[in-house]
Amino acid sequence: MAVELDIIPSDTEHIFEQAAQYQEVMMRYHCCILEMRTKIEVLSTEMSVRYRRNPIEFIESRLKTPSSVSRKLRKMGHEVTVENMEKYLSDIAGIRVLCAYIDDIYEIARMLACQEDVNIITVKDYIKNPKSNGYRSYHLIVEIPVNFSDGLRPVRCEIQIRTIAMDFWATLDHDMQYKKLVEDSDEIMRELKECADVIHQTDEKMMRLRERIHRIEEDEF
Ligand code: GTP
Ligand code: MG
Repeated sequence: MAVELDIIPSDTEHIFEQAAQYQEVMMRYHCCILEMRTKIEVLSTEMSVRYRRNPIEFIESRLKTPSSVSRKLRKMGHEVTVENMEKYLSDIAGIRVLCAYIDDIYEIARMLACQEDVNIITVKDYIKNPKSNGYRSYHLIVEIPVNFSDGLRPVRCEIQIRTIAMDFWATLDHDMQYKKLVEDSDEIMRELKECADVIHQTDEKMMRLRERIHRIEEDEF
């Protein structure tokens, strides 16, 4: 049987070279998510034993899709290359931590920042400083070392920490952004912001209620 040799035409070699590099880079971000999720799961396990309740409700993670990568690079005015992906994007690996209460968010962020191998690159506190549309969440860009067969490499990821209530609003807001608003958009934006503020008041109320219940329980001991 004749063996067909797969010879790539020299003028298309760069495409296959970039594809191989892309796969390698995405593998690194995937591994970063695995490591980071484990770190957060360890914190969650520890906190649930110490506090006798679980401050972390869910952990979600995602890798940025190729179309989203190229859209963001183009928007930033950069050529779509694997090098630019690594250089300019910090949210290729994304993790979302959903908490029960607002103070759990700060506790988790503090515990992550304490870890020797977690390098905090940026912090955006959209809870203390909500966006003008009412968006609230705590964002971190972190870098952690990941062990590969050829050595240790620092890899970045974006961590969004928010309450379930903040996530409820952000999810619906995200869905609505897909629909291009033309009519009544000012009115809709104002009402969306109102919802975000009411949700935040409820979040704060729930936290105070939990504290009251906790104090009653302590007195009973
Ligand atoms: P991106 O280009 O969207 O990544 O923004 P950025 O680099 O300025 O970072 P920022 O921390 O402001 O936002 C990062 C991510 O937070 C977004 O990709 C969304 O997942 C989320 N986010 C930020 N603002 C909003 C908002 O107004 N509504 C919703 N639903 N999500 C938001
Ligand atoms: Mg993003």
